[in-house]
Amino acid sequence: MDERLQHEGLRGLMMSADEAAKLIEPGMTVAMSGFTGAGYPKAVPQALTTRMNQAADAGEHFQIRVLTGASTAPELDGALARAKGMQLRLPYQSDPTVREHINAGEMDYIDMHLSHVAQHAWFGFFGDIDIAVVEIVGIREDGSLIPSSSVGNNKTWLDLADKVILEINCWQPMALEGMHDVYYGTALPPQRKPIPIYQPDDRIGEPYLHCPLEKIIAVVKTDAPDRNSAFNPPDEASQQIAGHLLDFFEREIQQGRLTEKLLPIQSGVGNIANAVLAGLAKGGYRDLTAYTEVIQDGMLDLLRQGVLRMASATSFSLSSEGLETFAKDVNFYRDRILLRTQEISNHPEVVRRLGCIAMNGIVEMDIYGNVNSTHLAGSRVVNGIGGSGDFARNGYLSIFMTPSTAKSGNISTIVPMVSHVDHTEHDVMIVVTEQGLADLRGLSPRQRAKRIIECCAHPDYRPMLEDYFDRACQESYGKHTPHLLPEALAWHQRFIDSGSMHP
Ligand code: COA
Repeated sequence: MDERLQHEGLRGLMMSADEAAKLIEPGMTVAMSGFTGAGYPKAVPQALTTRMNQAADAGEHFQIRVLTGASTAPELDGALARAKGMQLRLPYQSDPTVREHINAGEMDYIDMHLSHVAQHAWFGFFGDIDIAVVEIVGIREDGSLIPSSSVGNNKTWLDLADKVILEINCWQPMALEGMHDVYYGTALPPQRKPIPIYQPDDRIGEPYLHCPLEKIIAVVKTDAPDRNSAFNPPDEASQQIAGHLLDFFEREIQQGRLTEKLLPIQSGVGNIANAVLAGLAKGGYRDLTAYTEVIQDGMLDLLRQGVLRMASATSFSLSSEGLETFAKDVNFYRDRILLRTQEISNHPEVVRRLGCIAMNGIVEMDIYGNVNSTHLAGSRVVNGIGGSGDFARNGYLSIFMTPSTAKSGNISTIVPMVSHVDHTEHDVMIVVTEQGLADLRGLSPRQRAKRIIECCAHPDYRPMLEDYFDRACQESYGKHTPHLLPEALAWHQRFIDSGSMHP
């Protein structure tokens, strides 16, 4: 008996990735599993690129529209982008080749809140989904599917796609079974009901995905690891940012606005987020919870140490060392980690009810608190908004963190006016750089500007920002959010012209 494929009837659909890739036609909308380098199909997309390259050699175009959970990995995003095989990509990406094609205007990219993707698919905004390609851990005797290391939008893809190709990845531990909570209770307005999650560890769904068997047209076996980038050890700036944030939590506890258990933590990806997590361990916290998007290395450590009691997410985002740590002790982690669909892990209603502490990285912030998470100089996309908006708009605390400068100090990340807005001033409560923390709650725009410049700007740029703000207060058309528009935009133009904004 094949423990990975226990359903008799589906054994007849086993085929190679090359054969399965032949079932995908040019122009199709293909929804794939995958969320930050975990649980993405590893063989069919690569096999598809062979066909795309053959088509290109014959002078033909072979492009598809690709929907996923979030970013994937070189075997999916990188491979399809190199074959120039994606006409459209959504929702979040972080692949260098994809980024290059998007910024060259060669690929359409729809960057959207990750909690919105499933419902927009249900509303029909992306048109019909022709094929779903979904990685799973195994197929049970009754045909139910054991989800892989990410859940993402897989439930929606399996529900909506006309046809389904399954990749059973034998590299993924069978012990993942039971870790998932797939909620089948979502509905379209006006039939919607409250999502019954009152605590981060509430289970409201089932551990398996379901797919009508007649939709399944291929089953492909793979044996390949998830891919995620390694984390650098926290640098000095990250540690300083973590330090400011932990001092802030202490003050909030003293003032009775937080308890020693804090509130469920949402932590963005990256090195600053990892440093903050490490800081929580040093701060003596115990029994915290996380209601977040991805489980990264730092969270595994916190679970081991008892700093975190449990973590709810939609995906893993582990380095290769993190993967080893997880595999060694999978049973321990299975009891403490819940993987949900991304519409639930990031659900605004749940994030608001639980009162999450949202902590995310940024590209730049302006003196009034508007945040740019996605664009360089207003027009070049970096990654995408990811889940940051789902959490920032709805969290109890909305915290944004960044070093005060980028590009070796040549650019200030605090600017007069952001070149692109992802999170408006209304969604931003706390800003932290290595210089300090600005608490913007209860402040008017001009008060916020003074506080951000004073607490967060780098000393090399503080006088420039003070000078701008003072002149804007004198000369601006309106004095509520004082601005000198051409000058505010010229700040970014200088970066484009010279690549340097150092005074
Ligand atoms: N101007 C110009 N370039 C800037 C910049 C600025 N203000 N700020 C950052 N950059 C550059 C960096 O130099 C780096 O470029 P390089 O690789 O050529 O050196 C690149 O942008 C990424 O910056 P880095 O500091 O390495 O990024 P990070 O790992 O701290 O991530 C974001 C910062 C904003 C890119 C990242 O947090 C992100 O994608 N956020 C949006 C999604 C999100 O919040 N997801 C979490 C929700 S769960």
